[in-house]
Amino acid sequence: MNNHLVKLGLAVTTILIVGAAFAFFSTPTGYNNGYAPEQPIPYDHSLHAGTYKIPCQYCHSNAESSRHATVPSLNICMNCHKSVKTDSPWIQKITKAHDRGESIPWVKVNMLPDYVRFNHKRHLAKGVQCDTCHGAVEQMQTYYQKESLSMGWCIECHRRPENNAPTSCDTCHY
Ligand code: HEC
Ligand code: HEC
Ligand code: HEC
Ligand code: HEC
Ligand code: HEC
Repeated sequence: MNNHLVKLGLAVTTILIVGAAFAFFSTPTGYNNGYAPEQPIPYDHSLHAGTYKIPCQYCHSNAESSRHATVPSLNICMNCHKSVKTDSPWIQKITKAHDRGESIPWVKVNMLPDYVRFNHKRHLAKGVQCDTCHGAVEQMQTYYQKESLSMGWCIECHRRPENNAPTSCDTCHY
């Protein structure tokens, strides 16, 4: 084939790839923001963290010390619900599961792909608040994912000069 045509073809292909990559990273469509799956127990953040002002870390204590914030075990719920609202069928369901040593199969909402490195501890140590990334959870009756958690979203914050956060690929990719 004609050498010039090959070069032109390569150039066009490159432009298409770069263009597609740009479109992919700049338009956060196809991400899970707004995702609000039905949970096996209608657990209400606006009641617990809002009305009763239970601190986030009372239940998500691992956020400060590890990669994952994790969802609390039923022991934590039973601290109150062994005496609070024991006439509720939901609380009876929780109590039964707890007494059998079972757990509640909560549906996971926020989920990064395996090839992304993320760590709660480091962000909290720098003073980034829960609501910056998760929205006003204390107002949510049913928890929903507020932000896209896309690469563009992460990098937008890392690039802000006041944050002094790393932006090289291997910061977030293994
Ligand atoms: C009394 C315990 C309790 C408190 C307090 C609490 N949470 Fe939760 N949180 C849960 C439970 C249980 C779930 C799992 C069920 C659900 O998603 O609603 C959960 C789920 C979440 C999730 C989604 C987890 C996932 O699957 O991705 C986030 C984010 C979250 N909580 C943030 C917060 C923040 C921020 C606060 C404080 C404003 C807070 N929580 C206070 C118990 C609690
Ligand atoms: C810098 C952004 C950021 C901050 C700040 C942050 N989170 Fe998260 N959170 C995330 C991301 C991203 C995920 C998904 C992590 C994954 O899939 O590995 C997540 C997941 C979670 C989960 C699901 C379980 C898990 O660890 O994967 C809970 C619960 C949670 N966050 C609670 C909190 C609470 C409570 C705070 C404040 C104490 C907080 N987060 C602060 C970004 C953040
Ligand atoms: C610090 C105390 C405390 C903790 C811990 C706690 N709750 Fe509650 N919960 C309450 C209070 C107070 C109410 C409101 C009771 C009322 O309406 O009289 C409530 C109400 C509820 C209800 C509504 C029950 C109904 O039928 O109206 C559910 C469901 C519930 N909690 C689930 C949980 C789960 C799941 C956990 C653990 C992740 C948990 N709670 C942890 C204090 C707590
Ligand atoms: C609201 C701002 C903000 C958002 C959003 C954010 N980060 Fe960060 N991130 C920071 C700051 C600030 C640091 C610097 C922490 C330090 O210097 O210890 C950081 C540091 C990191 C580090 C370095 C930790 C280490 O061990 O060296 C990783 C990895 C990281 N972020 C991943 C992510 C990923 C992945 C996302 C998106 C899912 C994300 N971040 C979203 C502010 C943010
Ligand atoms: C601050 C964190 C962060 C940095 C820095 C970062 N990425 Fe990402 N990257 C992510 C997150 C989060 C995802 C998953 C969400 C998404 O696809 O947007 C991702 C996804 C990707 C994907 C997969 C897209 C797909 O089609 O599934 C590629 C490829 C990628 N990144 C390449 C890079 C390269 C190359 C760099 C360096 C120029 C880089 N990333 C720097 C956070 C980051």
